[in-house]
Amino acid sequence: MQIKETDFGQDYHLITIENKNGVELSVSDLGARIVSLKALNRELVWGFESAHEYLDNDLTIGAMIGRTAGRIANGRFDIAGKTYQVSQNSGPHNLHGGMPGFESAKWEYTVLNGENEASVLFRLTSPDGTHGFPGNLEVEVRHTLTSDNLWRVTTRGVTDEATLFNPTNHVYFNLSGDLSETIDQHSLYLNSNSFAPIINSGITDGTKADVSGTPFDFQQEKKIVDFFNSRQPQSEIVDGIDHPFFFKQTGLRFMQAKLTSPDEKLAIELFTDRPTVVLFSGNFGKDYYLMRGKKVGRHQGLTFETQFAPGAERFSSFGNIVLPADFPKETITEYKINFKE
Ligand code: GAL
Repeated sequence: MQIKETDFGQDYHLITIENKNGVELSVSDLGARIVSLKALNRELVWGFESAHEYLDNDLTIGAMIGRTAGRIANGRFDIAGKTYQVSQNSGPHNLHGGMPGFESAKWEYTVLNGENEASVLFRLTSPDGTHGFPGNLEVEVRHTLTSDNLWRVTTRGVTDEATLFNPTNHVYFNLSGDLSETIDQHSLYLNSNSFAPIINSGITDGTKADVSGTPFDFQQEKKIVDFFNSRQPQSEIVDGIDHPFFFKQTGLRFMQAKLTSPDEKLAIELFTDRPTVVLFSGNFGKDYYLMRGKKVGRHQGLTFETQFAPGAERFSSFGNIVLPADFPKETITEYKINFKE
């Protein structure tokens, strides 16, 4: 495996790992983020070319998100009978654990090279009281590229006081080879027969809705444009997809999602030990980012944010995101890149 470290500006770094098949993964200590993923000489993910462009535009793109991904209603939750109020940075709600969060931090890192895989291991301490969350939380994120074209994200947390921990990675995929193209003609498969409807301000209400007979049914692979064309209340609220999908089975051995490029030369398969993925279709209205010389925005990328569904702090049927004191928890998500030369 080949590894290269370069300057990313403002004292940040870019670390690029390349395997023998020409697959390249670039990550940065600014937010422990993925900046670039290339195969077939194609850029597959959203990313900027320097730290200052992230700082000027949007720090969530490709970043590690935490302590908690998604929205906590009114920024309020209970742990063991005690109520906590955390920062409200999305209307009345807490989004992505509050900003600045993992996405804005400068992470320490170590590069680990091996024969069949190489990794960058990032470390961060989130002090007790950060945005109102209890516990000194130590976080490790390891980005790995393997010789068989797999990008793996391993995230581990340990705290000295019970807290919430529901991290994710905020990668946006666009497999067309041109980031300014929409994802309309990408095909999507999901191993999911239910999703969490959202209410107006973007929070879940604790219900799980059956996908059958609705545009949310991706159990048979279909073009994403079919979803966008199906105008219905749930997609109108957010102008696209911004919903948690529950997997039929949980476990790293199940292929939970597959996104295929319009020309069908390339596909990403998703594997994760989490029970849910939040899909967000870049519903940015008329705004766009100037990214690698292209205008990139609305419906031009799709996230696979693996996590427990937002709302889990209130709805036990969504899973348990409490991290007990002195009890490390680890989660793994894998993105397998398949391509034909
Ligand atoms: C997503 C979230 C969206 C939007 C986006 C911005 O995870 O579901 O509603 O806030 O992040 O980063």
